[in-house]
Amino acid sequence: MSTVLIVDDEKNIRRTLRLVLEGEGYDVLDADCQAAAEQQLSTETNVDTILLDVKLGEDDGLELLERIKSHLAGSGTGYDPSVPVIMISGHASIDDAVKATKLGAFDFMEKPLERDRVVVTVRNAVDRAAMQARVNQLRDAVDAQFELLGTSQVMVDLRRQISKVAPTKTRVLITGESGTGKELIARAVHRNSAVSSGDFVKVNCAAIPPELIESELFGHERGAFTGATGRKRGLFEVANKGTIFLDEIGDMSLSAQAKVLRVLQTGDFSRVGGEQTLTTDCRVVAATNKDLQQAVTDGEFREDLYFRLNVLPIESPPLRDRKDDLPLLLQSFVVHCCDENGFAHKSIDDAVLEKLRGYDWPGNVRELRNVAERLVIMSDEYIVEKDLPPYLGGPTREAPAVGSDGSIDISAYASSSLREFRELIETQFIVHRLEEFQWNISQTALSLGIERTNLHKKLRALGIHRPS
Ligand SMILES: Nc1ncnc2c1ncn2[C@@H]1O[C@H](COP(=O)(O)OP(=O)(O)OP(=O)(O)O)[C@@H](O)[C@H]1O
Ligand SMILES: [Mg+2]
Repeated sequence: MSTVLIVDDEKNIRRTLRLVLEGEGYDVLDADCQAAAEQQLSTETNVDTILLDVKLGEDDGLELLERIKSHLAGSGTGYDPSVPVIMISGHASIDDAVKATKLGAFDFMEKPLERDRVVVTVRNAVDRAAMQARVNQLRDAVDAQFELLGTSQVMVDLRRQISKVAPTKTRVLITGESGTGKELIARAVHRNSAVSSGDFVKVNCAAIPPELIESELFGHERGAFTGATGRKRGLFEVANKGTIFLDEIGDMSLSAQAKVLRVLQTGDFSRVGGEQTLTTDCRVVAATNKDLQQAVTDGEFREDLYFRLNVLPIESPPLRDRKDDLPLLLQSFVVHCCDENGFAHKSIDDAVLEKLRGYDWPGNVRELRNVAERLVIMSDEYIVEKDLPPYLGGPTREAPAVGSDGSIDISAYASSSLREFRELIETQFIVHRLEEFQWNISQTALSLGIERTNLHKKLRALGIHRPS
């Protein structure tokens, strides 16, 4: 049930509103002055909507409104600034209405109050509050998913660097090996920036075919080329007042680089097939795992674009330089993976961590994440050494023992569990097929009758790696 707080110094108004709103099924609280209202707000955790009189006897309703809304800035009294406030006023003053709107009031009603108007306005406000709560919830969930974990000195330094760089409008270039968390850094920059309420628009420059990149980035007008059946907004336009994340920028073609350079120089661009010059005001963050300076030397990357992008460089550290974070990262990936699969949380044997510490992690955090996924799937309640893939010190799997007639020698597996036996056979079978198709994943998956993504999952789970 939703709760409405009525703040009015006139007893009759409070009583009438209470009757109307209780009749509509709301829980009703009331207060006759600012202090009483603040008392209610600090003790009641879930006020969904506030009806607030502009003239509160000695007190000023607008002042209270300001106090409620200013808690956005985190002054600490702790009531929720997103709660919708409907102002009520005895003598309509345009000035008051304007001021209330500026302060963030949801709506403004004049006395005498009409029953229907009150009911509809309160219902809209409550609905809005519910929607806002869901948006916040989803945003928190998304943020948690992209949180940069780690307490090592390297990560502490990285976070400090992000918090310095983020609030500026300057362009950021994130470099570092594959799987080190460059995308998470880009998202952290956005979250801590002045444009965090805008969108974070990710562009995978490597994945867009060169002939489409211009229309993806800048949009197109209807009929600009065959297949352009309608007008389309480009990603630079979508990212206006937000952040555009140019991922894998080192893989962009030279012709696309020239076009991106123009928008970075002037903020101007036009849609493909369009006459009009549009402008965009967005934060630009780029990332690459290539050595861009080398690419410039090799003539694969424009030097002018490199300088435009590389205003504030951030280096994403490889996992081998922050092995102190291994336990925390592993633990959190294991918990996440257990949750996703509906398993009870599994604990991890110290010997497993010891083995992981001894490894160099060329695939960085992404590789660790895949290992964690495998460990969760392969282990029983407790994750132990034998659940590790062979290259991390787990048991090596020999070829299946074969009897004289060529069939599998079952007696050689007297002490194996069904799972171990199945894994062994599966591994042999899949490796055989992979070799047959020169490790081409699509073809192998097709021949096995499974989806590519499933084959990828299997390879990770069974710890199958292409021999280098
Ligand atoms: N510090 C970290 N804390 C938690 N998860 C991380 C961290 N760093 C990386 N990850 C996870 O590792 C995976 C790879 O991260 P991300 O995609 O950001 O890497 P990347 O540097 O962009 O790699 P690539 O160059 O291959 O695109 C993701 O699943 C990400 O959530
Ligand atoms: Mg990436």
